[in-house]
Amino acid sequence: MRKNIVAGNWKMNTTVPEGVQLAKEVCQAVSAVESLKCDVIVGVPFTHLTAVREVIDINKVGLAAQNCADHTSGAYTGEVSAPMVASTGANYVILGHSERRGYYHETAQILKEKVDLALQSGLKIIFCCGESLEERENGTFKDVIEAEIRDSLFHLTTEQFQNIVIAYEPIWAIGTGKTATSDQAQEIHALIRSLVADKFGAQVADDTTILYGGSCKPSNAPELFAKPDIDGGLIGGASLKAADFMGIVTAF
Ligand code: PGA
Repeated sequence: MRKNIVAGNWKMNTTVPEGVQLAKEVCQAVSAVESLKCDVIVGVPFTHLTAVREVIDINKVGLAAQNCADHTSGAYTGEVSAPMVASTGANYVILGHSERRGYYHETAQILKEKVDLALQSGLKIIFCCGESLEERENGTFKDVIEAEIRDSLFHLTTEQFQNIVIAYEPIWAIGTGKTATSDQAQEIHALIRSLVADKFGAQVADDTTILYGGSCKPSNAPELFAKPDIDGGLIGGASLKAADFMGIVTAF
């Protein structure tokens, strides 16, 4: 059965004490919701993983890193591997965010390596895809999204693929205040689900959680989440205040 998920992506925000405080607030608020209709995850900086893991109930709030290395260990100064992430007690990793692809030149091949290593470490993956404004306007956006998914995920076995959550995040909507309309998002979510169905079968596609990300907030979440193929959100800016984040968590 397909799960609804609302995941926060804190990006490079908060000090460790601030992050611990925010995680505590989210966990308390989630615990207070009577019939929660989605899983909740916080995606925190590497430095925060261990400290946040100590203050949350992992059965109520999942814990994600925002990246992992494309190697397991060794002489890669400054990198953090998937086994290291898993050893903190985190259960998810966000991979393929457009900020990683854009600013840090992460290619489909690099992401494929990261996907494999994350799965080997027992992490579930929130895998991001999405087009730029130029690609939306020149009409290539569907091909771009298909290639991103195919080139980094379609080598997986059906069993492995069941640990993948896909997040559709149009780059032009990230942090811009400009949200995709619910119809625009639904169109792409349905496309992604059909690609997954072609590759892994209808049942796997039906069970795959597909999140929307890009200026999602309490005011627009209900309309987005009402769409049949939108199973929740990956939330940047609005995940940095517990009240805003909870406004999205309770939008179902
Ligand atoms: P935003 O970011 O909600 O601030 O637009 C979403 C994301 O990049 O995951």
